[in-house]
Amino acid sequence: MYTQFAVELKDVTKRYNEIVAVNNLNLTISTGEIFGLLGPNGSGKSTTLKMLLGLVQPDFGTVNVLGLDVQRQPVEVKRLVGYVPESPNIYEFLTGIEYLDFIADIYGVSTAEKKQRITEYLKAMQLEGREGDMINSYSDGMKKKITLISAFLHKPKLFILDEPLNALDPRSARIVKDFLHELKGQGVTTIMSTHVLEIAEALCDRIGIMYQGQLLALGNMDELRQKASLPKSGLEDIFLKLTGTEDLRAVVEELTK
Ligand SMILES: Nc1ncnc2c1ncn2[C@@H]1O[C@H](COP(=O)(O)OP(=O)(O)OP(=O)(O)O)[C@@H](O)[C@H]1O
Ligand SMILES: [Mg+2]
Repeated sequence: MYTQFAVELKDVTKRYNEIVAVNNLNLTISTGEIFGLLGPNGSGKSTTLKMLLGLVQPDFGTVNVLGLDVQRQPVEVKRLVGYVPESPNIYEFLTGIEYLDFIADIYGVSTAEKKQRITEYLKAMQLEGREGDMINSYSDGMKKKITLISAFLHKPKLFILDEPLNALDPRSARIVKDFLHELKGQGVTTIMSTHVLEIAEALCDRIGIMYQGQLLALGNMDELRQKASLPKSGLEDIFLKLTGTEDLRAVVEELTK
């Protein structure tokens, strides 16, 4: 069935025993949108992203991605999506190039395209010359870059990126940001979780702030400013006000007692 939305979550709830990780979430993301998912630790961001891929099953509700019902067509969904998990499990005893080659083969990327894309991305991420080293010898940022490249190799229509920019140096973060922005022009949709508020503010068309499994606020920066009654503020103040941690002084005083 055709849908204009790249992502559609309807009345989605996910519980882990007594913990309600995601609570009756409704969210639609348009094709070509860059959407930022923000929220304090444990607010349900990663769980939401995993449900978009079918890695976690909702207890209630439906998840539709690129016109596909994720529960019914999990393999098709994975084929169209590039996913960077929060803490990726990559094969540490492969070299960078072996790993990328392997992932490209899984996605059925042709040999010529594979070679060209891998060379291009390794260069862009400044990993040239290190691709023959074993992944267990890489720094955290280098591992992150390899994971990002592996998620981009099959030219997905939707990126699901869980904290994609942490551990990246400013130059690499900039390259990823520019890359996502460029792909947006080609109709690629991105949904990313991040704690880096400046990046969300600069890159995302809309932002959803999650809190205790629910969407507390949703919109572009102007709409969020209105919602928080902070007409001139940046995202940090809005975030802190909406998530109830505005008065941090008391917390800091408590910690420094
Ligand atoms: N596999 C699991 N088993 C049990 N509880 C889980 C599991 N995964 C997540 N949870 C719980 O669900 C809630 C939401 O977790 P989630 O990982 O979605 O949060 P998050 O917003 O991504 O947080 P962070 O910013 O720390 O990455 C938390 O209370 C967490 O403890
Ligand atoms: Mg998370």
